Amino acid sequence: MSSASQFANRRSQMTSAWRFLRGFIENPGHVASVLPSSSALLSRLRDLKCLRDSEFVIELGPGTGETTQALLESMPAKSRLLSIELVPEFAVHLREMVIDPRLHVVQGNALKLTELSALHRELAPDAVISGVPFSHFSDEQANRLVRSVRVCLKPGGTFVAYQFRNDVRDHADELFGRPQVTAVPLNIPPLSIFEWSKPASTSKEMARSDWSLSRNHGAIGNKY
Ligand SMILES: C[S@@+](CC[C@H](N)C(=O)[O-])C[C@H]1O[C@@H](n2cnc3c(N)ncnc32)[C@H](O)[C@@H]1O
Repeated sequence: MSSASQFANRRSQMTSAWRFLRGFIENPGHVASVLPSSSALLSRLRDLKCLRDSEFVIELGPGTGETTQALLESMPAKSRLLSIELVPEFAVHLREMVIDPRLHVVQGNALKLTELSALHRELAPDAVISGVPFSHFSDEQANRLVRSVRVCLKPGGTFVAYQFRNDVRDHADELFGRPQVTAVPLNIPPLSIFEWSKPASTSKEMARSDWSLSRNHGAIGNKY
């Protein structure tokens, strides 16, 4: 890399870090961290197996785009990524910083996942990768979100959440079973990556169970 592009790269990282900090000061509950994710987390995200042959992935809480870029680096050339970000300034920044024809950024609430993904007429995702802070959601919101993820995922799809705390497990384990857990001690603060799989079965029983999840918990039925 030339020194001019190294300088430009460093400048854009500083701009992102500054925007992230400002986003945290203005929306501490939603952003939940003063720094964007570390290179240690980004390299773990790039290694996720579920990205390799994916056609369609949904990212929840991309922030200023460091994680978005990492996911795109491991996704196939013909895949698509839908990134849903609540904070409007982050969504604007992300559209400017990550220029990639595979990426579609939506400024919206991950709690409306089913409506947003259906609105965009996408395929069922191979993976949902989430950085939204489950510890700041009420029990009802956290349950609604994990149920929407489970309903919208492809059979055999993967739900990934990287979190500072374990709260997400109180909601997701009940639906998906035990996750694979990877510690990322070098992130500041240290965090864990949880990975759950939706069974690959396409049986009627499974379709019925997903439909009843969506009816009983207020999500819209699976439109995929
Ligand atoms: C811990 S930060 C992670 C940011 C980025 N992925 C990273 O790792 O650097 C959490 C992100 O989730 C976003 N967020 C929080 N609640 C959200 C919601 N309900 N819907 C969409 N995004 C949300 C925040 O604005 C913030 O960008």
